[in-house]
Amino acid sequence: MKKYIEEIVRQAKVRARQESDAEPEPGLISPVQWPVNCDVKQGLEGAITGQTEIGYVNGPKGWLIYRGLDCFDLSEHSTFEETSYLLLFGKLPSKTEMDEFMAKLNSYRTLPDEALRLLDSLPVKSAHPMSTLRTIVSALGMMDPNSDVTTVKAETEVAIKLIAQIVTITGAIARIRKGEKPLAPDTSLSLAADLVRMMTGKMPNEEDARIMDICLILHADHGMNASTFSAMVVNSSLSDMYSSIVAGIASLKGPLHGGANEAVLADLEEIGSVDNVQAWYSLSKVGKRRVMGFGHRVYKAYDPRARILHPLAELLSRRDPNVRRLYDTAAELEKWVVGDLGKEKGIFPNVDFYSGIVYTAMGIEKAMFTPIFAVSRMSGWGARALEYLKNNRIFRPRAVYVGPLHVEYVPIEERS
Ligand code: ACO
Repeated sequence: MKKYIEEIVRQAKVRARQESDAEPEPGLISPVQWPVNCDVKQGLEGAITGQTEIGYVNGPKGWLIYRGLDCFDLSEHSTFEETSYLLLFGKLPSKTEMDEFMAKLNSYRTLPDEALRLLDSLPVKSAHPMSTLRTIVSALGMMDPNSDVTTVKAETEVAIKLIAQIVTITGAIARIRKGEKPLAPDTSLSLAADLVRMMTGKMPNEEDARIMDICLILHADHGMNASTFSAMVVNSSLSDMYSSIVAGIASLKGPLHGGANEAVLADLEEIGSVDNVQAWYSLSKVGKRRVMGFGHRVYKAYDPRARILHPLAELLSRRDPNVRRLYDTAAELEKWVVGDLGKEKGIFPNVDFYSGIVYTAMGIEKAMFTPIFAVSRMSGWGARALEYLKNNRIFRPRAVYVGPLHVEYVPIEERS
């Protein structure tokens, strides 16, 4: 049954290769010689934070590589658990290493009772799920007596624990929001399958389980994005892994980053149908409104993750006319945006444009899309924070002061 999904991924890879030049020229791949000279633009565009062996994004060509492995190949052959191991430990695991890693993940999947009680006491239905996730991860740090041990060994253990536990928290938040009791994890299922089960309350079919697994693989790491950098900055002060992940979640929440997947669905619902796309897009241009799910700081070509998610969204849209309407609207919007801004500004769909349609087809509510992103990115945040910790130097850039100098202090009674 998975064979046709693998074929979809293979075809997406063929299209990606045909559309980008045959031999992409890598950039930013040689060791950093400090001090480094680079052109830094607003938003730290162009700044170099250090060197890494974890992942590589080639924006102009639309490449995404984890530890040398292409994201198309990982999506076709790997699992989220194996990809997490690859990101954390630098190589694909042997059978024994994989069994040990799975056993460890499984041992951590159940949440402590205090965390469940805390969830029960929070306004989970009204708060944004990313705020709840951020709060519970922060609380898990308080409940872990070893959370302040900041050795690589101790923080690696926390990263593995959180890869397992964020899945369970996300499942619990989704259930509580619907007025239902959280489900206990089922360690006979993969993290992806169990995520869908714990969120929807239904055992996913093989198709949904495999596609969720691919979604988790594709979102796991992506260079020096805002949330990864936030997590690394916090970890660089030797704070602790929980605090670093809280920072990552906080940053991912915003609509210019991970929160865009939710915003895309809101836009598609607002547009309503294919017939309204042209008028909606014209109005958005007049109002200088950004089209959510398009554009990227690094990709100026088609995002390889969107190349895979687009046909998967199409596949899943066949099962429900409402999802089909969303998909058709999205595909039409893509034509208008790419036709208008693709060549001129390098604006193409990013990872967030089609992911929400995939999750909607699985029966997952819009507000839960960004927590699913966090479930996956937990691996990248952990791997990157740990890699930096091995050769740590606190992040401490400077800002240019443009305020007045030497202002005389006037006592409050004498101020006008
Ligand atoms: N819709 C319309 N125009 C856009 C869009 C968009 N989504 N994104 C960028 N542009 C245009 C800008 O208006 C700008 O045009 P100009 O040069 O004429 O002023 C040009 O493209 C460059 O835009 P910047 O703002 O400089 O791009 P930046 O690298 O700062 O921002 C970002 C990247 C935040 C992703 C931006 O493209 C955006 O806001 N996209 C929509 C939100 C989104 O989808 N975010 C998810 C990104 S993927 C992720 O984080 C997982």
